[in-house]
Amino acid sequence: MRTQVGIVGAGPAGLLLARMLQQRGIESVVLEARSRTHVEGRIRAGLLEQGSVETMTVAGVAARLHREGLVHHGLHLRFGGKDHRIALSDLTGRTVTIYGQQEAVKDMIALRLADGLPLLFEVSGVSVQEIATTRPRIAFRHDGRDHVLECDVVAGCDGFHGVCRAAIPAGALTVFDRPYPFAWLGILARARPMSEELIYARHARGFALATMRSPAISRLYLQCAPEEDLAAWSDDRIWAELALRLGAQEGELETGPILQRGVTAMRSFVAEPMRHGRLFLAGDAAHIVPPTGAKGMNLAIADVRVLVRALEAFFAGKGEALMDAYSATCLDRVWKVQRFSWWMTQLLHRYDGGDAFEERLRLAELDYLAGSAAAQASLAENYVGLPYAD
Ligand code: FAD
Ligand code: DHB
Repeated sequence: MRTQVGIVGAGPAGLLLARMLQQRGIESVVLEARSRTHVEGRIRAGLLEQGSVETMTVAGVAARLHREGLVHHGLHLRFGGKDHRIALSDLTGRTVTIYGQQEAVKDMIALRLADGLPLLFEVSGVSVQEIATTRPRIAFRHDGRDHVLECDVVAGCDGFHGVCRAAIPAGALTVFDRPYPFAWLGILARARPMSEELIYARHARGFALATMRSPAISRLYLQCAPEEDLAAWSDDRIWAELALRLGAQEGELETGPILQRGVTAMRSFVAEPMRHGRLFLAGDAAHIVPPTGAKGMNLAIADVRVLVRALEAFFAGKGEALMDAYSATCLDRVWKVQRFSWWMTQLLHRYDGGDAFEERLRLAELDYLAGSAAAQASLAENYVGLPYAD
């Protein structure tokens, strides 16, 4: 088997990359370890920067996103018993859109299969080989047979736990890793969202976030311990804790059946560089942000834009300059987004036994944010998405 770009992973990064390459007449094969049902059912991100929506629109994968996505012009921060609206659109002229990651993934899978293009699910034993040569290959098993996919380029879009980053010699990578002493307990519930806009709440008992998937489905998160036992959280306890931390008035937080629940660990992680020879890492394979700033999927999309431009030039015979610049171009944004995600996270979470001085600084910063249009504008321009390099 032979292709131009072998893509490992059918998450947002791999699927969008395949689609944007297709638009440019570049062939690819997408290999995914899990089943289609699993990938389409995995509930994760929900908030898209305007630039991500525009990228997906130009890629021709946003028809349903435009029909069903919820466009937001602001968000709410709640702390010290008060609500503060950050007027995203007034401050930046831009919006963000709520649309479930798994819905975007479903849309891209359906398009790829309808176009009859290769996307293999349930591949196993994936191994990326010869990446330091101009003929990299991917060995894998599918439908009970061993295969080798010969490529010009391999795109490692296989998420944080994938095999691609691990295929780069350890001595060639510098890794930055910061775990946090807390996690998020997330639920999806059949209940009207608490507010039309997102509410990020800082409370003495810990952080909480009220977001949504539709006018009838709420998505809610609570700060918890990394090793939190879900069995200790009855539905009543979850709703009571959410109401308390979100500062909900009587009747403000509608409850309903909990459709899904899970605990998500949090870390900041960057592996540099994002390229080794003919292997290019994109999305969570190269970097992880804590979810507070809603940046993970958006950053994956930003990487893909840069990679597509580089591959387009390469396959058009215009040389490797953009491929050589790929890692540095991506990392410029990655580190700005890391800073913002870390900043939102540390500002809004509870640190047990933390440094009293740092806690006072956080309170001062929140007070500054509440009263300063400049501070709010800085939050807003990062939240709606920094401009792309191209
Ligand atoms: P993934 O989505 O992880 O895709 C990688 C794919 O590769 C997977 O399908 C996996 O099965 C496959 N794979 C792994 N190993 C192999 C292998 N060996 N061979 C073949 N395939 C393999 N981001 C936002 O932008 N906004 C948000 O609001 C937001 N909220 C979040 C909330 C939660 C609770 C969580 C957990 C994450 C959130 N994120 C958010 C982050 C976002 O979900 C990720 O950043 C995003 O999924 C990254 O996409 P990706 O394609 O790089 O990786
Ligand atoms: C969602 C998740 C986030 O981490 C965030 O900051 C905003 C929204 C969500 O799942 O909708």
